[in-house]
Amino acid sequence: TTVRIIGAPMDYGADRRGVDMGPSAIRYAGLADGLERAGVDPVDAGDLLMPRAEERDPDANQPSHGNAKFLREVEDICRRLSDQVADALANGEFPLVLGGDHSVAIGSMHGSARDADLGTIWFDAHADLNTPETSPSGNVHGMPLAATLGRGMFETTEWATAPRVREDAIAYVGLRSIDERERELVRESEMTAFTMADIDERGMTAVVEDALDVATDGTDGVHVSLDLDWLDPKTAPGVGTPVRGGVTYREAHAALETVSQRHDADGILRSMDVVEVNPILDEGNETATVAAELTASAFGKRIL
Ligand code: ARG
Ligand code: MN
Ligand code: MN
Ligand code: MN
Repeated sequence: TTVRIIGAPMDYGADRRGVDMGPSAIRYAGLADGLERAGVDPVDAGDLLMPRAEERDPDANQPSHGNAKFLREVEDICRRLSDQVADALANGEFPLVLGGDHSVAIGSMHGSARDADLGTIWFDAHADLNTPETSPSGNVHGMPLAATLGRGMFETTEWATAPRVREDAIAYVGLRSIDERERELVRESEMTAFTMADIDERGMTAVVEDALDVATDGTDGVHVSLDLDWLDPKTAPGVGTPVRGGVTYREAHAALETVSQRHDADGILRSMDVVEVNPILDEGNETATVAAELTASAFGKRIL
């Protein structure tokens, strides 16, 4: 397999605080070597160019999208990212998107779902299902699934909404921080939500097996979106929105190995993003290192 690494140094979705350095940090942590050792062939497409902010005021000229900050910049980047992801798939390559904040998932899922009914596994502390109407922060990285599914004010954003992303084939794994109004959106959705409580009760491997069943049921392939704040902040301190009580280093590896084993058996994986690594907030390059290691696990790196 050829894996096309696509850097998306986006920070417009997260208040512009250093997460744009994520792609460099993950590469520096040895991503390509890890992928080679996993037995795949990495090709680095470099980074997408980020536009300069059109306005200093993040809310300027976006009356139709409420308080979604820097939405025009997010749109510009996600349109180009969607094209890159679709182009990789058309070339028989596997698109691996390095964020950047989690708003990049809007572009990667849009590209991945152009020619396929897509299932999704969302490894995250957060549900990222706020709409511009419900978001307490206005940060688009808390909205990517709402954008993809065309919720609320995203009803008309065709650049974001991906009709072949199957809502009933989205599985969250590891949720532990949901906003008040967002909770209703999750409850009313067709998505399956596995929280940290499920992982505590049943163990990571069993939960991820169930999530894979959800994401593969009637779909053509699976998108894996890995937000590093999924992990406990002790293991992954370099993230903008840390939440304690997260997944351990070993649980995380078990999860990505479970995904990889299913892929070996059934060829389910289609695209992946690795997001929210913020080197400014990191200790050493620990979070990017974990990100690179987990990615190698997803692509089949084994102890023996
Ligand atoms: N729920 C909060 C918000 O909407 C935090 C979202 C964090 N998302 C992330 N991808 N880190 O602002
Ligand atoms: Mn998160
Ligand atoms: Mn579209
Ligand atoms: Mn997220």
